[in-house]
Amino acid sequence: MSYNLLKGKKGIIFGALDERSIAWKTALRCHEEGAEIVLSNAPVAMRMGEINKLAEKVGAPVVAADATSMDDLKKLFEEATKHFNGGVDFVLHSIGMSLNVRKGKGYTELDYGFNQKTLDISAMSLHRVLRTAWDMDAINEWGSVVALTYIAAQRVFPDYSEMADAKALLESVARSFGYHYGTRKKVRINTISQSPTATTAGSGVKGFDGFIDYADKMSPIGNATGEQCADYCVSLFSDLTRMVTMQNLFHDGGFSFMGVTPLVIEKMGK
Ligand SMILES: NC(=O)c1ccc[n+]([C@@H]2O[C@H](COP(=O)([O-])OP(=O)(O)OC[C@H]3O[C@@H](n4cnc5c(N)ncnc54)[C@H](O)[C@@H]3O)[C@@H](O)[C@H]2O)c1
Repeated sequence: MSYNLLKGKKGIIFGALDERSIAWKTALRCHEEGAEIVLSNAPVAMRMGEINKLAEKVGAPVVAADATSMDDLKKLFEEATKHFNGGVDFVLHSIGMSLNVRKGKGYTELDYGFNQKTLDISAMSLHRVLRTAWDMDAINEWGSVVALTYIAAQRVFPDYSEMADAKALLESVARSFGYHYGTRKKVRINTISQSPTATTAGSGVKGFDGFIDYADKMSPIGNATGEQCADYCVSLFSDLTRMVTMQNLFHDGGFSFMGVTPLVIEKMGK
């Protein structure tokens, strides 16, 4: 159902890889709610060609940008502001990648070269995006920026490995830049801490199926789906949440405040 919550709003959505991506689902929901969109992803991800299907559905141009390249980001914001004939009202940062996890290197044997890239892609890219917009004054007053994160930033999930550190840094960047952009232009910056969700990035974590099942059994309302995460993003991009900023918002069916549930105890007893 559409409420026209984003009528007249213009936004950039990073990270739609395929139809399982949270960014993909968010682009569809934003379009339904009346927003105009520019899609972006890393050049290597674009080669898969899937994003063009989404672009057609939501009538959006696609601009390739490696989120670790200031030149790419500048070009992206130039193209987006030209396309919109003005500034941007919202940005979704839905970008994550761990080189060490991908190469099978555990937390106690990190390759620091890979680690730097992981932190740059998964966390400092938010700073790079915000800095680019800041320098170009490309985000409109009362704009809203959302980045996606995971509770491993606060609690230990061993197989999430270096991504836990990346998410802690990402959440910190959202708070720190949230101060500056809030005082300058009332732009709000938040992170959504989402339940485990079956996507390409999610499935990279070792034992992901067990992980998803455990979280579901630990959450009074169950795991939040990618579609529900898209709904939450829409609410944060809308004018209904204008005073929410610098927050890490748990979107996890209650998981973050649970100690244990009978469902998990029952499973352990067997
Ligand atoms: N899936 C989960 O369980 C889960 C849970 C909580 C948070 N998140 C976060 O949600 C976000 C989106 O992930 P997803 O689950 O939709 O998976 P996904 O694999 O569909 O999306 C990750 C995206 O990051 C992009 N990306 C990687 N390197 C990039 C670069 N250098 N420049 C630009 N883009 C780059 C990929 O191309 C891809 O589109 C990530 O930040 C992820 O950590 C996911």
